[in-house]
Amino acid sequence: MKVLDAEFVKGFIRMADDGWNQGWHERNGGNLTYRIKSEEVELVKENFEPKQWQAIGTTVPALANEYFLVTGSGKYFRNVSIKPEDSICIIEVDDKGENYRIVWGLVNGGSPTSELPSHLMNMEVKKLQNPNYRVIYHAHTTNIIALTFVLPLDGKVFTRELWEMATECPVVFPSGIGVVDWMVPGGREIAVETSKLMAKHDLVIWAHHGMFAAGEDFDLTFGLMHTAEKSAEILVKMLSMQPNKRQTITPDEFRHLAKDFNVELPEEYLYEK
Ligand code: 13P
Ligand code: ZN
Repeated sequence: MKVLDAEFVKGFIRMADDGWNQGWHERNGGNLTYRIKSEEVELVKENFEPKQWQAIGTTVPALANEYFLVTGSGKYFRNVSIKPEDSICIIEVDDKGENYRIVWGLVNGGSPTSELPSHLMNMEVKKLQNPNYRVIYHAHTTNIIALTFVLPLDGKVFTRELWEMATECPVVFPSGIGVVDWMVPGGREIAVETSKLMAKHDLVIWAHHGMFAAGEDFDLTFGLMHTAEKSAEILVKMLSMQPNKRQTITPDEFRHLAKDFNVELPEEYLYEK
């Protein structure tokens, strides 16, 4: 089967388009990774032409010998559906989890996203907790970024404020949101800090930069990013009207919601203000 005919590739391309249409991917902003199932690799591997091995820049032993569909560094999300072979690639990770090689795509040259260390370290943490996790998504979500100039860079505060802005939020991300202080992007250092927080959350904010989401499939991961960003938009609107809430959802109301929706909401987020 041709790579572009495979369902997982179509889902990846659609998600890139959806992110572009949300306005989260100016220029080459953002990146996306999908950990390909072995049966999906079998479907398309007749097209593979392995290139040179390259260092990942970190070590991900739990991802050894796996294949990933990844956006290219410097490539634009808006072009992913228009010229996918130029914008995305499939990579193979070696048997130690130290190197990768491109086996398909990026036909005009280039390399996978500069955030590959963060994508793979987050993916490794998630896979070890739940082997069904397959998608890591980084987007430049406008309202979340705006809030990192106004709220304290504290996951407890971000989680609670975003939960209060939309009743569905605690149900969609009950494990809360982590926050990484501003750091230089694109390397191992920020990947280590992000993956530490990914052990506890499915969403991690990069201050003054954007957000990472992790999930089992494209719909869940995009939906998670979308829900958190929508909630951030409501908070930005609310703060633009007046600095204080006239009324809101209380900690006891969250506890009631948790019971009825059968989710566990950690008490650390239900503090008295
Ligand atoms: P890439 O073009 O290398 O994926 O980088 C975009 C980005 O968002 C960096 O954080
Ligand atoms: Zn970025």
